[in-house]
Amino acid sequence: MLQGLFHRLSSTFSRAFSYELNPLYWLGAIAIFLLVLDVISGIYLYIFYKIDPRYCYSSVAAISSSFLGNLMRGLHRYTSAGIIFIAIAHMVHVLVTDRFRSYRWVAWITGLLGLGMFLAIGISGYILVWDAKAQLIGILSGKFLSYLPVFGHSIMSTFFGADIKLLGGMFRMILYFHVAITLAIVFVLWIHVLRNARPRIIPPKYLWASLTVYFVLLSIFLSAKSNPEASLSKLPFNISLDWAYFFVYPLMKLMPLSTMWLLVSVGTLVICLFPWIIRGLRAAVVTIDKDKCVGCERCYMDCPYEAVIMQRTFEGKKKAVLNENKCASCAICIGSCSFKAITMPGFQWQAMLDEIKERSPEFVLLRCTSTATPPERNDVFTYTVPCIGSVHPNFPRDILATGVKGVMLVGCEQDDCHYREGGKWAVARYNRQRKPYLNQNVDPSKIRILMVTSNTDITQQLNAFIKDVTGGGKSETVAVRGLKKLNYAVSAIVLLIPVVLLFPLTDFKMAFYPTDKSAIVLSFKYRSTPSVASARSPIKVDITVNQKQVYSKVFNPRGIRRDSAIFVYDEVMINPEESDIKFKIEETLFPEKRSEIEVKKQLNAKDSIVITYDESAKNFLYLK
Ligand code: HEM
Repeated sequence: MLQGLFHRLSSTFSRAFSYELNPLYWLGAIAIFLLVLDVISGIYLYIFYKIDPRYCYSSVAAISSSFLGNLMRGLHRYTSAGIIFIAIAHMVHVLVTDRFRSYRWVAWITGLLGLGMFLAIGISGYILVWDAKAQLIGILSGKFLSYLPVFGHSIMSTFFGADIKLLGGMFRMILYFHVAITLAIVFVLWIHVLRNARPRIIPPKYLWASLTVYFVLLSIFLSAKSNPEASLSKLPFNISLDWAYFFVYPLMKLMPLSTMWLLVSVGTLVICLFPWIIRGLRAAVVTIDKDKCVGCERCYMDCPYEAVIMQRTFEGKKKAVLNENKCASCAICIGSCSFKAITMPGFQWQAMLDEIKERSPEFVLLRCTSTATPPERNDVFTYTVPCIGSVHPNFPRDILATGVKGVMLVGCEQDDCHYREGGKWAVARYNRQRKPYLNQNVDPSKIRILMVTSNTDITQQLNAFIKDVTGGGKSETVAVRGLKKLNYAVSAIVLLIPVVLLFPLTDFKMAFYPTDKSAIVLSFKYRSTPSVASARSPIKVDITVNQKQVYSKVFNPRGIRRDSAIFVYDEVMINPEESDIKFKIEETLFPEKRSEIEVKKQLNAKDSIVITYDESAKNFLYLK
């Protein structure tokens, strides 16, 4: 059903773009093209960016103030968001069109890894701007990671409080991470397409040129903006959110961290295991008869998955050898072998020919498994083949020799061939542009190739072919039908809409905290007194507001031996009013070691007070 839906959508796109330029067939290549724009604009930003948290916000503002800087910033933001949406669309495409199982598992796993890496790059990139959104994202990411004991509250407390040195160190780490993962992704994408011969990594010129123009226009007219500057003493209640990167974060408002971790980890694991969970039956692979193989290399050149390699025998003869793990059972190699050296169970050419002879139909239709279902007709005999690329040009010649009037091959739209290149090879072979050529003695007007999506009704096309053949129509080449014309106006609009949508999707206003409340934020690192065996004392933190206790918690030192500093990060929401806030901290093993601070303040909604610890002065203080 999903496949039908996808094909309905893609045939609508083909009507606007022609199937050669249908962007749905080029999603992986488009993501790579956007990555190129992303890296170019990223290098520009890197040159002018200041890594110090005190100046990075103003350095980003300075970059945005020039025309080129604004353009580069916009390109960087929008192309990186675009990559995520395109990669997800590409994932849905391979999933619904069943291109992720068995031999494709390497592409599936590395694709997911690449997607995860892109998410990490984007999240770290947003933090580098150091605006209110950056701060909140830092805190929320820290909160998410705080579920793992190894991190605890340490990351969160870096983004608030008085320790600018700690924050500076964190910024350098984030920037190096951002650049290093971007470099690593090239390697992951290389493995991603490694099993594909001639991977399609460059989209057609029309697509990349239009996308470049649209992204440039978007960056100029709907500039990428910062939120207000981050403040170490202010909790960011409202921010604008980028849905490409932060789609998981709103879940934090709805469920506890434990449920979120369960959901994210189980969800990721299940998606990773799709190629094995949704197995289906693997078709039998081909067999190469070494004695018949003459070493012509056609199968080796045509295999879309590099499953055939050429090896020398002891006698020094070249022979084709199959790597079964990579074989897709597409049988495209059968279509390229003129010596009948390759066979596959369930696809026996001689048996098909014998049946045709016995039934003596007027027309024969050879369709692949992923294309349209033809209408029932008494005069047409239909066979399902693995791919139209598996039909050697000699097959239709043999069929026509039995007295059949015409042979029609029906396959997927060329650039969406289920086995990547079968349609392309069929068109080239039948039009004598690629070996094995269609025999010179065969009348090309008796053969027609139709390339359509699975939901297409091909009755009209079939009737037209039958009429042309019976009417004695002549043609010099094998006609290929299904290629629609590019409609410049419609395709331009269809391409522009998702690009423009990136603006609201990357600038979505959202509140992460109740906006009718005020907040007390605890954010500090505290080294308590060591007791026996160097273990440090836990601490107890109490807060009262207008004599009412609103908070009481004990925090333990970190480390296996409990000898490391304690990181504390917590948010306490209170009603906005004239507040007398008393904060008390006490080392539980040394009750005499205690500190207290009192703050009297009129708090309004969305106001916050940050209680932190100044390590050099060794005292607690509050930031307002
Ligand atoms: C992260 C960004 C991604 C990029 C830049 C990318 C790019 C590509 C490219 C260029 C191809 C080759 C297309 C061809 O030559 O026919 C490809 C194939 C493939 N990709 Fe991705 N991809 C990405 C993410 C993903 C994700 C997230 C998944 C799924 C989890 C995925 C699954 C696949 C599969 C299964 C194939 C093989 C399809 C086939 O053999 O027909 N990719 N990808």
